[in-house]
Formats: sequence, structure tokens, C-alpha cells
Amino acid sequence: MTFRTIPSSPSDPLRVVIVGAGGMGRAWLATVADSPEVTLTGIADLDVTLARSAADSAGLPGLAVGAEAVALARQTGAQALINVTVPEAHHPVTTAALFAGLPVLGEKPAAENVSRALSLAAAAEVTGELFMVSQSRRWNPQLAALREMIARLGPIGTLSTAFFRAERFGGFRELMAYPLLVDMAIHAFDAARFLLGAEPVTAYCQSYNPPWSWYAGDANAMVVFEMEGGTRYLYDGSWCSPGATTSWNGAWRASGEKGTAIWDGDHEPVLDADVRAAQPTGPPYSGIAGALQVFVRALQTGEPPSGEVHENVMSLAMVEAAVRSAASGRVERMDAVLELAHAQALREETRADVRDILAGWSSLRDVRAGR
Ligand SMILES: NC(=O)c1ccc[n+]([C@@H]2O[C@H](COP(=O)([O-])OP(=O)(O)OC[C@H]3O[C@@H](n4cnc5c(N)ncnc54)[C@H](O)[C@@H]3O)[C@@H](O)[C@H]2O)c1
Repeated sequence: MTFRTIPSSPSDPLRVVIVGAGGMGRAWLATVADSPEVTLTGIADLDVTLARSAADSAGLPGLAVGAEAVALARQTGAQALINVTVPEAHHPVTTAALFAGLPVLGEKPAAENVSRALSLAAAAEVTGELFMVSQSRRWNPQLAALREMIARLGPIGTLSTAFFRAERFGGFRELMAYPLLVDMAIHAFDAARFLLGAEPVTAYCQSYNPPWSWYAGDANAMVVFEMEGGTRYLYDGSWCSPGATTSWNGAWRASGEKGTAIWDGDHEPVLDADVRAAQPTGPPYSGIAGALQVFVRALQTGEPPSGEVHENVMSLAMVEAAVRSAASGRVERMDAVLELAHAQALREETRADVRDILAGWSSLRDVRAGR
């Protein structure tokens, strides 16, 4: 998809507003304040007092604050918006920004469900503005090195992620029906697509809650995705497994025809194969700072970034397919999940221009490939 470019440089940095002053909004505040490529013009939150206290604790007492992101962006001359609100607010906040002529860098997930994410992809097309989802782990240099190793292993039989932690968050996560799948697994699912350079075809999930769990919903899940080309991707995770916890990135193993690559999620990946070791050429940045840099660069060049909403929809669809399979007990086809979401998006869309774009998508294959 083509989008409007915005020139910027260290002497003329991109002016941005952050919306959402919660835990992650504060992390973004620090990242933006540290970046020479962007200038922060304000921070918005429904709770203006929270926005003010976030600015104060970041050492920016004079920063403009407001309750409404687009109004604050207009008032302060911002050129783009960073959306760090709760998932349910991603769709309204990002839609309003795109239609106000502001490109958006949004926290994962793109929206609270695939149907709303498709609506945002269509809104990006109507407006010609960039909407990029920040899947921060895509910018991990060790993940990039693992990807290069995997590319040398020939056909891959199995890729797997083990994610075992014992987190006591309190709050909404402990009340969700599928906290692991809905709040966390998207990072691994997105990384699996990136590592294999392949899209999922089907999903089968068993989700459950161990007797000692302190979560109301299912804290454990095992998901098997059949990927294009036949590789199986296995995600095996838990939020309530004390002892020998894995990295927040999970522990990874890829077994291919010519050998195996493993990554503990925190250190350099290891190649055990009779092939020449890859020269790491990963990005010189990581995490949300990496996403910010990629966003600025994309706006400068017009080159669609990794995480552009059309490309990102499939990672969210993997979450939705896993949840559907957990509930149905059946293997779910990814195409069917996308088609259901598309039909829902058409039913629920309130903007005629966005609906026209959605209606024009005869095949979701093109949409998910980012074409
Ligand atoms: N990449 C990561 O590793 C990572 C980690 C944590 C959270 N996240 C994501 O970041 C996002 C925010 O998470 P959080 O933990 O900071 O949540 P949070 O609940 O702490 O903060 C969200 C803030 O958004 C504000 N808000 C909600 N609707 C709004 C609206 N319409 N306009 C303005 N403000 C609004 C709320 O008042 C709240 O202060 C979520 O999408 C979450 O999934 C990502």
C-alpha cells in the first residue's frame, strides 16, 4: 500500500503526540523523549491528570496535555500519533487520527479483534495515511540472527516456542477468559511468521487453567499452526508456571532438514548444523525504539514497514483462530477466520468510504499479504 510521506531529519524531527498515559504509555514517553528523530508535542489521556503526572515523572513538566488526541495534535502542530491506549480504544483513536491526516504508530494489537483491524486497514487506504503496528519484538537483533540461521536449515519441520512464567499482574489480565492467548501470545505468533517467512493455514488449540492458577481464565495454552509449506509451529505457554521460567521472549527451537537452531530468548541464538554460520545483519536497534525508528524511516521513504497494518492483520488472526479452536475443539482454517472477520467488518462499519474499500476486497489473500 502506498501512503503519504513526511520528510523529517535530526534538524527537523517528526512532531508526535502520544495517546495513552498508562504503563506502556510511560515507556513510550521515555523512548520518544530520548529519540533525536522525533519531537514530542503532547500526551493525551482520557484521564488528563494521569497524562500530566506521566509528563511530570518523565521530567517534562511543560508538556501539553489533553483528553482528546486529535485535538491535542492539532493544537500542538503534531504530524503523527503514537497510540498506546487500551486495545478497545485502538480502533476509534486510530480511525480519528487517520481521517485527521495523522499517520499512526500503534501498540499491539492492531485492534481488539480482526474485524476492527480490517476496518483500520481500509481506513488507511481511504486516507492514504500510514498505520503501523509496533510489534516491538520484531526489532530484536537476536531474533533477526535466528531468522538468518533458520534460512540456512533447508525446509523446517517444526518451529516451537516455550513460554513459561509465573506473573501476578492483578487487574484485568487476571479476569480475562484467555489472558495468555489474547494479551501475550501475539508477540510469539508474529515472530513465528517473521522467522519462517510463511503464513499460517490452520490452527488447533487446547487452552486450560491448572488447578493452582490465580487467573480466572485459561492461563495455559498449546497451539499448533500448520504453516504454508507444511512447517508446524507449536506454541506451548503458561502464565502460572513457577520455577525455571523462560525469557519474556520465550525459548525457541527450529528443526530443519540440515540441522537445528535454538534461542533462549535473551542471548545469541545457537546453530547446530553442518552449514556455515550466518553473519548477523539484524537491525541496529531494538524494541519500541526500533519500531519508532522504522516508522520515521517509512514516512521519509514511503517504503511499507514491517508491521504495516495489512501485513500485521495475520498475527492478530492467529490469536483469534487459537481462541476459536480452544472454544470449538476443532482445527480452524485461517481463511475461514479471516472471512468471518471480513463479514463482521462489513456489517459493523459505520463509515461509507471505509465500507466501500472493505466491500472491494474480493480476496483477503491480497489484503493479508499487504498488497
Ligand atoms: N509491546 C509490549 O511489550 C506491551 C507491553 C504492555 C502493553 N502493551 C500494549 O500497550 C497498550 C496499553 O497498555 P497499558 O498496559 O499501558 O494499558 P493501561 O491500561 O495502563 O493504559 C492505557 C491508557 O489509555 C487510556 N485511554 C483509554 N482510552 C483512551 C482514549 N480513547 N483516549 C485517550 N486515552 C485513552 C486510559 O485512560 C489509560 O490511561 C495495550 O494495547 C497493550 O496491549 C504492549
